[in-house]
Amino acid sequence: MTILGIETSCDETAAAVLEQKQGRIQILSNVVASSASLQSKYGGIIPEQAAREQIKSIIPVIEEAISQAAKTYEVKSEDLVGQLSAIAITQGPGLIGSLLVGVETAKVLAKVWNKPLIPVNHLIGHFYANWVQEERPQFPCIGLLVSGGHTDLVLFTDHGKYKYLGGTRDDASGECFDKCARLLGLPYPGGPEISKLASKGKDIFKLPRPMINEKNFDFSFSGLKTAVSRAVASADRDSTVSQSKAKQLLANLAASIEAAIVDVLVEKTILAAKKYHVEQIIAAGGVAANQALVNRLQVTVNSQKPKIKLFVPPSNLCTDNGAMIAAAAFFCKPTKNPNQLQANPSLSLAY
Ligand code: KG4
Ligand code: ZN
Repeated sequence: MTILGIETSCDETAAAVLEQKQGRIQILSNVVASSASLQSKYGGIIPEQAAREQIKSIIPVIEEAISQAAKTYEVKSEDLVGQLSAIAITQGPGLIGSLLVGVETAKVLAKVWNKPLIPVNHLIGHFYANWVQEERPQFPCIGLLVSGGHTDLVLFTDHGKYKYLGGTRDDASGECFDKCARLLGLPYPGGPEISKLASKGKDIFKLPRPMINEKNFDFSFSGLKTAVSRAVASADRDSTVSQSKAKQLLANLAASIEAAIVDVLVEKTILAAKKYHVEQIIAAGGVAANQALVNRLQVTVNSQKPKIKLFVPPSNLCTDNGAMIAAAAFFCKPTKNPNQLQANPSLSLAY
């Protein structure tokens, strides 16, 4: 089976061709065009602008994904299209303008090329980045989704079967990284920027770890952002701070933000694995590209008895991409009425 996966839920326009052969999923191409640097100028995403960029990029990105996959097979692009078993598309959640570009394009391609159309929940798609590795996760497993818009814990018992355990009550962990970065004067997206700066600092600010001791699977990150804003204001008031000291202060604040977020995510994820006696954890979403989080999760799972196995996608498959959508589609059903498929900005994992 060969699937073209298309992803346009936010500010990335992405397409990938994946093949499943003898139980292994392989990436033949994976193309991502991001308008993040454009959004960066405004300190965050402007939905209308993101949608306009999607329109500009969608056809070239799909063409490039097909052309690269055709090269791998040593066939012409038309022949590769002929070989496709299906087209997979992110149905939601996300920004409606961005989603519409992908869904309507995929509907047209499915009709013109006469292919089945497989709608994929973007959040489920993130988890399937873990299936594009030599060793696949086994069920049951705990899924930790940490992205710009979501922070969720789920218990997977099979493909398409899961129990929602909990999620954030306010800001998502990625959103918290982005908002704190803005307070620190760092560009969007803030997660990688805070992470870079954090490596030069120390966790000395004693920032709050919201809900860390509550024995449930909910999160809250907006209080952390407020604490950071207070710390920044107090540093600004202190006129005696030299420039080099201010730099170190910023790095320490970044390290403190990262440590607070990581502590909460790791504590709740391990709590979930223990409560449900699960021996595998799959992490997913942009924040799973954070090395401090991955390192802490790895050390913590290694120290558990019985041992817990951790799966984390390579960092280019943590952030939004088409490969994760195609990978998930190998385990989803095509829609019966492709013409009637609608983008759904409010799809979620909770039910
Ligand atoms: O999954 P994703 O690409 O898009 C959504 O579905 O939201 O996640 C984007 C989020 C952003 O908030 C970004 O700051 C965060 O992932 N992120 C990171 C890192 N790389 C991306 N956060 C922390 N550390 C990173 N290295
Ligand atoms: Zn995402």
